[in-house]
Amino acid sequence: MRSLCALLGLVSVAIADVLVDFQVSQPPPLPVGVQECTVQVLQRDFANSYGDAEVVRLEPPTECGEPGSWSAISLNMTVTSNGTQYDRLGVFTFQNVEIWRTSTPEPTRGDGIIWSYIKDVTQYMPLFTRSGSFILQLDNLIQDNLDGVYATTVTATYYAATDAYPTAPQASTIIPLSTMANDTGNDASVPPGFSINVTIPVNTVKIFAELFASGNGQEEFWYGNVPNAYLDTLPDGITYGQGPFREVRLLIDGRVAGVAFPFPVIFTGGFSPASWRPIAAINALDLPRYAIDVTPFVPLLADGAPHNFTLDVASAEDDHTILDNWYVSGLLQVVTGASEAPTTGNMTVYEVGEYADSEAAGAVQDATRAVHIESVVVSGDGKETQVVWVQNLAYENRQTFSGDYLVQTITQSTSGTVSSTHNGETVVSDQFAYPLDINFTYGSADFDNWTFIIDHSYNRAGALSPFELSTNIESQQSSESIYQTASTGNYGNGTTNNTFIYSDAAGNTYTRSVNAAYNQITLDEEGGSLAGVEDDVMVAGSRDEAQKALTSAFANAKLRGGTGKRP
Ligand SMILES: *[C@@H]1O[C@H](CO)[C@@H](O)[C@H](O)[C@H]1NC(C)=O
Ligand SMILES: *[C@@H]1O[C@H](CO)[C@@H](O)[C@H](O)[C@H]1NC(C)=O
Ligand SMILES: *[C@@H]1O[C@H](CO)[C@@H](O)[C@H](O)[C@H]1NC(C)=O
Ligand SMILES: *[C@@H]1O[C@H](CO)[C@@H](O)[C@H](O)[C@H]1NC(C)=O
Ligand SMILES: *[C@@H]1O[C@H](CO)[C@@H](O)[C@H](O)[C@H]1NC(C)=O
Ligand SMILES: *[C@@H]1O[C@H](CO)[C@@H](O)[C@H](O)[C@H]1NC(C)=O
Ligand SMILES: *[C@@H]1O[C@H](CO)[C@@H](O)[C@H](O)[C@H]1NC(C)=O
Ligand SMILES: *[C@@H]1O[C@H](CO)[C@@H](O)[C@H](O)[C@H]1NC(C)=O
Ligand SMILES: *[C@@H]1O[C@H](CO)[C@@H](O)[C@H](O)[C@H]1NC(C)=O
Ligand SMILES: *[C@@H]1O[C@H](CO)[C@@H](O)[C@H](O)[C@H]1NC(C)=O
Repeated sequence: MRSLCALLGLVSVAIADVLVDFQVSQPPPLPVGVQECTVQVLQRDFANSYGDAEVVRLEPPTECGEPGSWSAISLNMTVTSNGTQYDRLGVFTFQNVEIWRTSTPEPTRGDGIIWSYIKDVTQYMPLFTRSGSFILQLDNLIQDNLDGVYATTVTATYYAATDAYPTAPQASTIIPLSTMANDTGNDASVPPGFSINVTIPVNTVKIFAELFASGNGQEEFWYGNVPNAYLDTLPDGITYGQGPFREVRLLIDGRVAGVAFPFPVIFTGGFSPASWRPIAAINALDLPRYAIDVTPFVPLLADGAPHNFTLDVASAEDDHTILDNWYVSGLLQVVTGASEAPTTGNMTVYEVGEYADSEAAGAVQDATRAVHIESVVVSGDGKETQVVWVQNLAYENRQTFSGDYLVQTITQSTSGTVSSTHNGETVVSDQFAYPLDINFTYGSADFDNWTFIIDHSYNRAGALSPFELSTNIESQQSSESIYQTASTGNYGNGTTNNTFIYSDAAGNTYTRSVNAAYNQITLDEEGGSLAGVEDDVMVAGSRDEAQKALTSAFANAKLRGGTGKRP
């Protein structure tokens, strides 16, 4: 697949109004009718911003109750752009902890685009209770024929606690597994694996890790890479090697503590930009997070000494290496006990292979992974907890090449059951299935036009930590588009349909069925208790009003100008 990262640009279809881009997702179930404190976190026109992240100080408001007593916290990222630009990665870091990884929709010229995403960050409350450095890294470049500036506003809203919406459950502290950089996003580029020394409080009784990981460069479409043995049978330049399987591993003092089989996020320039306008690919604006219950390691970690935490990404090739590169980071939600005395205990079961079990035959790659760790954790005041951490994951990827290598297909399934129990009670759970079906067909051996067909889903149920609601999400997208490159400008068109079903343990529900054809929404049906809540500052519900609010935000952004210089 020679030019998977494409641009829709110079010749764009006529668009009557500002194009409102979006990812289909649930409006977060935030408190309604409580006192809210909204503060502007940052406003920045990301133009030539490569290596020049936005770094600001964020202070907790005091008007919505004691810092840390809030019932919820959300971020609102609203961005406008007009012109031609690649999709870019956005990494939000607060107190040296990555809290949100996003990417930008590619803009159109003329009336431009706007998008707004509301991100629930309640589970990171321990970070928000004190003043600290907030960083948005959004590396953009302005070059010949690439003039799209991302004019960005980020606000934070803190929700006061009430009887109906009590203070959110939260960890004692959050420890970063990050580069700790002060001037840029805190994700690490791997390979090689990234390691950091972590010292936890000696009275720690529980630790829940959360990981972020996304493929970039030769690893952006990792699921379209083929095993090295098979790559040798293909003409040069068709795709990359190291196979299509990737697992993100968390190692503690050199031992695997758990892994993630990543969801294949497609950015809005991926394969065919025409497929992702205005509906972004699943999770492109809010990349998935992965959970590992690290509590079984607490008896080994609670000694007051530094321990070596490593994040890496492994393939199923003999040497398990990958190409360049993945961006990874993580965090530890740490819970300390009531007693100051050190936690003790023992790890009683450790059945974890260094790498996944895998098998490749031709362009077919299979992998499975079993993780089983058990410990007895004894808190300083003598409370004993039996902890069981289990992951059972499965993966299969088949690729075909036909029509003189002009037709390429990828069929991948990734699924798994993940859970931890503490004294028999489920604490972390994650059940997922990510089917992916792609057909990428070139019009001719000039490779200047192609047809892209995709059907993929994100089905996920569970709670990544005790600080999050248990949720159930089923998002399914089908898209078919054509794309043509030419010296006079690129062109694409197509249709994308997305169905979405959400429910959570608090009884909130949301459904949406939305179709887009040739940049226009042709069907948009919403239902469930959360329907209409997110739109337009949570007062009046209709999508029309939301569109009006966004369009007026766009006009304001234009007034600020688009030079990309910091104020
Ligand atoms: C977008 O930029 C073009 C110039 O490239 C300009 O003609 C047009 O007025 C701009 N549109 C808006 C809505 O600012
Ligand atoms: C971040 O800044 C602090 C002091 O402001 C400094 O001690 C530390 O070394 C810096 N970290 C990095 C990774 O640059
Ligand atoms: C961790 O600390 C040890 C010494 O305690 C040091 O040798 C090692 O380089 C450190 N590792 C990292 C990743 O900082
Ligand atoms: C930390 O662990 C990783 C993975 O086992 C290892 O490669 C690295 O050398 C270790 N670092 C230190 C300082 O021990
Ligand atoms: C941990 O193992 C040691 C040695 O086997 C034993 O003495 C101790 O009682 C065990 N502790 C717990 C909490 O099981
Ligand atoms: C791929 O899609 C093309 C249409 O673009 C179709 O002709 C072809 O049969 C499909 N191939 C496979 C293997 O599905
Ligand atoms: C794709 O390119 C080939 C020749 O390069 C041409 O015959 C065909 O018409 C083109 N298809 C489209 C949809 O432009
Ligand atoms: C989307 O749905 C419309 C209406 O049912 C249908 O005509 C179109 O083919 C669908 N597109 C895709 C890519 O499935
Ligand atoms: C989509 O592009 C194809 C290929 O250029 C063209 O034949 C078709 O008319 C376009 N469809 C629409 C609705 O613009
Ligand atoms: C998000 O912020 C934008 C402007 O910054 C605003 O227009 C929009 O109403 C906000 N959305 C919500 C749900 O508060």
